[in-house]
Amino acid sequence: MSGLFITFEGGEGAGKTTVLQQVKEKFEQDGMQVIATREPGGSVIAEKVRDVILDPLHTEMDARTEALLYAAARRQHLVETVIPHVKKGGIVLCDRFVDSSLVYQGVARGIGIDEVLQLNLFATEGMMPDLTLYFDVKPEVGLARIAEHKGREFNRLDQESIAFHHKVRKAYLHLQEREPKRIHTIDASEQIGDVLTKSLQEIQAFMEKKTT
Ligand SMILES: Nc1ncnc2c1ncn2[C@@H]1O[C@H](COP(=O)(O)OP(=O)(O)O)[C@@H](O)[C@H]1O
Ligand SMILES: [Mg+2]
Repeated sequence: MSGLFITFEGGEGAGKTTVLQQVKEKFEQDGMQVIATREPGGSVIAEKVRDVILDPLHTEMDARTEALLYAAARRQHLVETVIPHVKKGGIVLCDRFVDSSLVYQGVARGIGIDEVLQLNLFATEGMMPDLTLYFDVKPEVGLARIAEHKGREFNRLDQESIAFHHKVRKAYLHLQEREPKRIHTIDASEQIGDVLTKSLQEIQAFMEKKTT
């Protein structure tokens, strides 16, 4: 039996990383084979590419260079980490995937969704997540959460204007309309416990549908 590839998407401070960890803990307690990984990153090579992408000093980064680096990191991560675990029948919870590139590089940076999709389909050989949870929250709320939480790393994306983050949110909502079967919206403005409950419900509903 093949496993499950679930991605967590949304703007900065939406709660992706926090909820993903909690979902992982819950699944582990239930005795499931689960791994948590992140985009870009998740393997030694991909983590190095991540450092190049997110370094706050790299202000001269060209938009297409950035898109190519993300696709390269994604490829390596998919081959080394995601595919082997899914093949063993496990669950992979991945913090960001192709949708992030479509939104950030395709729309917010203006390269175009379809150009970035083509590049990514080359990188992934067409593999898409089984299920994607989109954590929807106003950028002002997400950014305020990050500002409050001093422990988290400050990266290049945090320096973007609020207009950039609004474009990101609009693009995610557009993607969700394009692919309503795969992408499920979670209201991430709610309390963390409620966001977790809804996320677990979405995943469980998907698993039940898959086995019937
Ligand atoms: N629903 C929520 N309500 C209040 N605070 C939250 C909520 N979700 C996440 N946070 C807090 O906001 C900050 C950013 O969360 P994080 O999971 O890192 O977001 P992301 O990975 O989407 O950027 C963390 O300090 C986290 O504890
Ligand atoms: Mg995060």
